[in-house]
Amino acid sequence: MERELRLTEDGSHTVYVTGLDESYHSIHGALQESMHVFINQGFHTISRSPMHILEIGLGTGLNMMLTLIESEKIRIEVYYHAVEKYPLEPAEFGQLNFERIIDGIPSGSLLKMHEAPWGKQFNLTESFSIYKEQSDIRSMDPMGRFDLVYYDAFAPDKQPQLWTPNIFSKLYELINPGGILVSYTAKGSVRRDLVSCGFKVERVPGPPGKWEMIRATRI
Ligand SMILES: C[S@@+](CC[C@H](N)C(=O)[O-])C[C@H]1O[C@@H](n2cnc3c(N)ncnc32)[C@H](O)[C@@H]1O
Repeated sequence: MERELRLTEDGSHTVYVTGLDESYHSIHGALQESMHVFINQGFHTISRSPMHILEIGLGTGLNMMLTLIESEKIRIEVYYHAVEKYPLEPAEFGQLNFERIIDGIPSGSLLKMHEAPWGKQFNLTESFSIYKEQSDIRSMDPMGRFDLVYYDAFAPDKQPQLWTPNIFSKLYELINPGGILVSYTAKGSVRRDLVSCGFKVERVPGPPGKWEMIRATRI
């Protein structure tokens, strides 16, 4: 997969995939998009410790770093399972500017996270444990149950095969009752598929550049 680093409008990096003509984040700002969609509309709407989080599409690790910062602020323990099929190369993650421009990322954590082994539990800090699973979303096999899912696959128009009722019903089974799934999209077909799998689906305000996004709850 041919990729290049790009700057978004808020000064944070994203990765652009040439073959798909798609970037990992909104060009309006990777940081502000992740902060809005996954942290403010996801992480901060659940209060549990420990919190078990599943991220679909680890990518640059931006969502994980923001979750680490916020979990330290409110002093909760986190178990974070991330699925990724195409991990970034050292030459790519070594250039990401997140630690330089975001306050509160413990020094060296981004590199430590990317260099952590795949398929093994790893303590990023005393209270933040990660497990990176290198697999395809369609055949992933996360252990345990989750309170929060960050669904961050490429857009449904670009990769419709990753937005199917099969995947959503598997996720439904992996989420604890009362747990939620958040995604940056508000696409009607995605909402309807989530509902058909049993989720209660809300449209909530989206990040800059998008009216709405999805928050789905397992009831
Ligand atoms: C929108 S980006 C995720 C951005 C990421 N959450 C971040 O904070 O940088 C989508 C991610 O899904 C990964 N991906 C694409 N196809 C996949 C597949 N079939 N299975 C698992 N991961 C896949 C990509 O490599 C990319 O990292």
